[in-house]
Amino acid sequence: MQKFLKSLGPVSAVIGAQWGDEGKGKVIDILAEHFDVIARACGGANAGHTIVVAGKKHVFHLLPAGSLHEGKPVVLGAGMVIHLPTLLEEIRTLKEAGMEIVPRMYISPAAHIVFDYHKEIDTALEHRRASEKGQGIGTTKRGIGPAYMDKAARSGLRMECLRWDEKILKTELNARLKSAKEMYGIAIDEDKEFNQLITAKKLLEDRVVSNTAHLMHEFLEKKRTILIEGAQATLLDLDHGTYPYVTSSFTTAAGALQGLGLPPRALASCIGVAKAYCTRVGSGTFLTEADEESQKRLRDRGGEYGATTGRPRRCGWIHLPDLKYAAQINGFDTWNITKLDVLDTEEKIPVGIGEKDGKAEYTYLPGWKTSTVGLQSFKELPKAAQDFISFIEEHTKIPVGLIGTGQKREDMIIKS
Ligand code: IMP
Repeated sequence: MQKFLKSLGPVSAVIGAQWGDEGKGKVIDILAEHFDVIARACGGANAGHTIVVAGKKHVFHLLPAGSLHEGKPVVLGAGMVIHLPTLLEEIRTLKEAGMEIVPRMYISPAAHIVFDYHKEIDTALEHRRASEKGQGIGTTKRGIGPAYMDKAARSGLRMECLRWDEKILKTELNARLKSAKEMYGIAIDEDKEFNQLITAKKLLEDRVVSNTAHLMHEFLEKKRTILIEGAQATLLDLDHGTYPYVTSSFTTAAGALQGLGLPPRALASCIGVAKAYCTRVGSGTFLTEADEESQKRLRDRGGEYGATTGRPRRCGWIHLPDLKYAAQINGFDTWNITKLDVLDTEEKIPVGIGEKDGKAEYTYLPGWKTSTVGLQSFKELPKAAQDFISFIEEHTKIPVGLIGTGQKREDMIIKS
């Protein structure tokens, strides 16, 4: 482990290589202990990771998965869109478990606020897409797209507004609510929106820093190590993903650096996270999507239901050209292949290696038909499982440093 940690250097990013839900939370949880600062750069409450707090499972959407490590500064970067009631709820959950996170939170004034009306617009736009095009994007309906629309239109309210006088805040908010009502014909509870903002102001006003880019540079100067948590994943990136079936933020390593105000050369290492198979929630292309029966098996074994929406995830097989593509965009140094144990019962494992006439081309690797749950060393893995991992390394030209072998924190092989 020490050797692996040393190889990561002072600033490391954990980035999803597929369509999200790769299980980034676990590697982050393991690594966070060894870094000084935990930072999230982009996205909003569309993300979801399950965290066990005081023996109870909670799904967190905005706080980074590494926030549970006491005493570490937690940065919410400028690229984020923040739904305040959700953030307050997460803070409350931690408080009830005896953890006070507010004093160590550093929120960018440039992060945008997601209001409830953004969620209403998200739903309205999905309905419109469904009626006009036959299907929507399948968004999480968390208001993400509409909040980034306001950001791009330069009309959004940002976290800096928590420092404003209440009267000005009300005027500014009302102007936005009025135009949202006019444009989309949605019902808005104005008092509720304002009260939520004021509640957040009271608690978080002092945690909105003057500039997170300056803060990150201070951390660097003080030689603090920084772990950057990517949200969503490469194939959902607004520029490089499977547009239009993508999210509205920049989910790559470059996007994460941009979202935090860190220069590209600050990144010492980047861990690419990919499932040993593949899943997707929402609409859009999925070349290696499995047949019904295999999907059901993978879904049941892998617990493949959305942490944010509860939707059953579409399931299929790993597609190596996608992994190569993600590695090129992000500059991965190493892979974390997650949930290897989900494949334990497979007779043979389809591995996507290309595309012909719009269909996936597969190589079929032999299954290992024995439990790998809880294994912690590469040598202990059955030969067929080792070969599967080696196949990924050969095709992507990136070493596999970490292999997930179960749900528990310790179910992880550190291979390097
Ligand atoms: P939005 O981000 O809610 O606008 O959703 C756009 C697309 O990204 C939909 O297909 C969502 O299912 C997907 N998506 C957004 N966040 C996540 C995530 O954290 N994991 C997996 N899929 C996500």
